[in-house]
Amino acid sequence: MVAMCGIVGYVGPRPSQAILISGLARLEYRGYDSAGIAVIDADGHLGLRKRAGKLQVLRDDLATHPMADGTTGIGHTRWATHGGPSDANAHPHLADDGKLAVIHNGIIENFAELKDELLGQGFTFRSETDTEVAAVLLGREFAASGDLVAAFRTVAARLEGAFTLLAMHQERPGLVVGARRNSPLVIGLGEGENFLGSDVAAFVEHTRNALAIGQDQIVAITPAGVSVTDFAGNAVDVEPFEVVWDASAAEKGGWSSFMAKEVSEEPEAVANTIRGRVHDDAVVIPELSGMDELFAGIHRIIIVACGTAAYAGMVGKYALEQWTRVPVDVELAHEFRYRDPVIGEDTLVVSISQSGETMDTLMAVKYAREHGAKTLSICNTQGATIPRESDAIVYTHAGPEVAVASTKAFVAQITALYLLALHVGRIRGVLSAAESAAHVHELQGIPGKISRVLAEEQAHIEQFSHWMADTQSVLFLGRHVGYPIALEGALKLKEISYIHAEGFAAGELKHGPIALIEPGQPVFVIVPSPRESAELHRKVISNIQEVRARGARVIVVAEEGDAAVLPFADEVLRIPLAAPLFEPLLAVVPLHIFAMGLATAKGLDVDQPRNLAKSVTVE
Ligand code: F6R
Repeated sequence: MVAMCGIVGYVGPRPSQAILISGLARLEYRGYDSAGIAVIDADGHLGLRKRAGKLQVLRDDLATHPMADGTTGIGHTRWATHGGPSDANAHPHLADDGKLAVIHNGIIENFAELKDELLGQGFTFRSETDTEVAAVLLGREFAASGDLVAAFRTVAARLEGAFTLLAMHQERPGLVVGARRNSPLVIGLGEGENFLGSDVAAFVEHTRNALAIGQDQIVAITPAGVSVTDFAGNAVDVEPFEVVWDASAAEKGGWSSFMAKEVSEEPEAVANTIRGRVHDDAVVIPELSGMDELFAGIHRIIIVACGTAAYAGMVGKYALEQWTRVPVDVELAHEFRYRDPVIGEDTLVVSISQSGETMDTLMAVKYAREHGAKTLSICNTQGATIPRESDAIVYTHAGPEVAVASTKAFVAQITALYLLALHVGRIRGVLSAAESAAHVHELQGIPGKISRVLAEEQAHIEQFSHWMADTQSVLFLGRHVGYPIALEGALKLKEISYIHAEGFAAGELKHGPIALIEPGQPVFVIVPSPRESAELHRKVISNIQEVRARGARVIVVAEEGDAAVLPFADEVLRIPLAAPLFEPLLAVVPLHIFAMGLATAKGLDVDQPRNLAKSVTVE
């Protein structure tokens, strides 16, 4: 079975192989354990090539054994859940007669019973995948009606689970048909050519005109046009949108990795998320106009997200509670809906997702809506599913994030949460105009300060991360808003350097984790500013002394001029002065650089770490 994958489809006048391969290259962040393409050539024959391994393996194979090209094609890059990455399990899969090719993202939950039915009818299978069942079913239905869209309608009605499916038949060149349920698919509109993709990255180098398709819809593209219907065959309206970034934004440029490029873009990610949302020192979020009454009436905010996005939510909680006085809970999306949460009309459920496709988060949003809550999506990807399923959207404008580990999206998510908190805080009368303006100024100063951290600390951090290449385990400590930053620092390190790492609330140390400290254990400590809370600062300094006394090697992240850390630190990473709530946006930067530096020192692929995919579209 297949879960998180990249999908691309093309019809038009051009040979499709190069278009498919370059689309897959841009989608490879979604999955990279096998890849394949199918093309209908000029003789009306369906050619297929698929290989286990990264896209480069397929590229090399096509270069050494060329396949006839054609102007109708589909391509797939895979992240396996069940069934290892092998040539046989790679997509596309063919119908029984070999004339129809299918690619799939998602899981067909009832595939076993469908397969039994098909086996009973004498059909045979070449793989163990659920996808092949859809291919054989589509082949059977096409043989009966000769109509690929009608075949899709019949098959979609039989499938349970989540899926995006694309198919083409060699007797219908110039036609690619797709269907989606709880799995992403967008249309790219070209001139005399059209595209389908898991996201706009699949076709942005050819067109920035896109159409978002709703749930449970079927799309047929030909060179001349696009038609979209629901699963019952009724025509539906589709939402056009223009992709706001160009193809170069999703390219590595001169950088050694996408992650390096994306960390360097953290200042712009914050600046672009603020842009257009501040007028006369006040936060104005045009997307939220007309929602004042709702914000005035809410009694509770629940933030749902996963991984790094959840840590952004944990940072946002401090600002939201302080500036709006509405109680905020942050929940991992996959835990939220299984515990019968107390929600209702006065609850605002804020989801945070870079991709906008994370299935756990999507399901939490749907659950919240079904139970009467209002939903607001903070998302970085236009046309994605989660914003479409939400009552309101605040886009982060971090630009495309390609490296699997999230970096610039994280700072953009915190920025969006802060803008939301300032907006709601003013509506609820908690913040005065002057207080809000002071916070706005602080936020506007952050991009410049992140740039300073990058300029002044990057070389230093990269140097000592090289010395630490043999490290077995790293701990991260933080308090208050430094706590989620400690969690983020640990996650990033595990994710790309495969080193055991844990983040702790520094106050928890004595309640257990201090037992882990032995001589030489590296411990990062995020030190809060002493200017606003001398007490919090003092407590963190005590925590440093406690681990130091047991032989830990202490690396502190502290603001410029904080001399109290010097006697206890083996390394000091400086961040510019900022108000306490804004420190996370600075303190996280050295941790992102460190994770990257250590992974690079270990010779690892920082952009595509093992076992992971960027877009987690299964629960
Ligand atoms: C960590 C990371 C993941 C994602 C998480 C949510 O670096 O990238 O933890 O943050 O899978 O993804 P989105 O934001 O796309 O919902």
